[in-house]
Amino acid sequence: MALERLGEALRSIPPLQSSLLLLLCLLTAIHLGKLLLQQRRRQGQRRAPPGPFPWPLIGNAAQLGSAPHLSFARLASTYGAVFQIRLGRWPVVVLNGERAIRQALIRQGAAFAGRPPFPSFQLVSGGLSLAFGVVGGAEAGGGGAPPALGRGTGVRPGRRGDSASLGGSPLKWRCPDTIAAGKNPSAVKAGPKERRNRSVRGEPRERRCRRGYPNVQAKMQEEVDRIVGRDRLPCAEDQPHLPYIMAFLYESMRFSSFVPVTIPHATTTNTFIMGYLIPKDTVIFVNQWSVNHDPAKWSNPEDFDPTRFLDDNGFINKDLTSSVMIFSVGKRRCIGEELSKMQLFLFTSILVHQCNFTANPNEDPKMDFIYGLTIKPKPFTLNVTLRDTMDLLDQAVQRLQAEKAANENQLSANT
Ligand code: HEM
Repeated sequence: MALERLGEALRSIPPLQSSLLLLLCLLTAIHLGKLLLQQRRRQGQRRAPPGPFPWPLIGNAAQLGSAPHLSFARLASTYGAVFQIRLGRWPVVVLNGERAIRQALIRQGAAFAGRPPFPSFQLVSGGLSLAFGVVGGAEAGGGGAPPALGRGTGVRPGRRGDSASLGGSPLKWRCPDTIAAGKNPSAVKAGPKERRNRSVRGEPRERRCRRGYPNVQAKMQEEVDRIVGRDRLPCAEDQPHLPYIMAFLYESMRFSSFVPVTIPHATTTNTFIMGYLIPKDTVIFVNQWSVNHDPAKWSNPEDFDPTRFLDDNGFINKDLTSSVMIFSVGKRRCIGEELSKMQLFLFTSILVHQCNFTANPNEDPKMDFIYGLTIKPKPFTLNVTLRDTMDLLDQAVQRLQAEKAANENQLSANT
């Protein structure tokens, strides 16, 4: 009845006015639709990240197993790059993949620069530890590290771009100091010319590894012999001229990802990441392993292949090397990055210059590891032989001892 009356009323309206009325209705509907869509989007942004069901008391601890980085990668394939788990009473947001990690730690660096107030963290250095310190955050001017340590005052070394600088002053890596910088010459000195078995730490993997990489070792030795020669030990100044050795180091860091997850972070303010709301004081785990093994970024990521870091002319591809994530990124990234890379270079180049390494044929080449903050390989043995004599190593040790004695004399003369 009512509809019939409405129809009659509409028929009595002149055609121009009825068209205008229709247009008005249409515009109102579009406007309402837009409002509804905006509201939905806003509601969507307020969503917490998805994640597996947390069990009472233990939360998701049982799902992490003995290799949490691998479990995180598996969970990410179900729930996406950003997901949430619960460990005991702590809700934890896990970040996977370069995009999510860089968006959080770089673009929203201050918001993700805190450390969780875990009781164990507060025990380290009375809660004032640089690495585990809870102090600061976005409102303290960024960083989240204890202010006493001068964050943001130029004291921090190792930022991308300040190659090998400590507090602005260049590190002095002179050739004669090579062994000192590489540390522990006795470890190398102990190797006799004859073949012997020795337990050393190796690549941590849960997979099976091929019986060593004899071609890789041969290429490293060829490069170091060609550039450095056999009359002296490699030194820091050789680094830019030994791209294959550097490629080997970057591939070792990528492949092993021996710090698979960073020290836990915490949010210093309410924030969003990839559309998800992350409240202030949420614990954040950063899965570096997922960046280094992302098949979209690395071809055959489970193959060990240093040449992936070399361009057609044999030079290091810096865009790729800077994509390896093991020192973390953003405000809490490792301050020891440049120092560590130099030490790794010195260790490695001296070792391949002086020794030959072969896998122990009597051992199963499994890459089992023990998981802590770092991945540690289970003990294994390999054969180490000297390539020449001990002369260069002996000379380096003698020079070091003489320098040490001179420094001590100088010190006692000054006091
Ligand atoms: C290959 C060797 C090393 C690796 C792979 C490494 C890796 C890392 C990682 C992943 C973090 C955590 C970053 C984060 O939470 O986002 C870190 C923090 C840190 N590292 Fe290293 N590190 C190495 C060597 C060093 C060395 C030699 C030093 C000292 C000279 C050092 C000093 C620190 C400090 C002080 C922090 C805490 C930074 C902060 O909380 O703001 N690291 N490192």
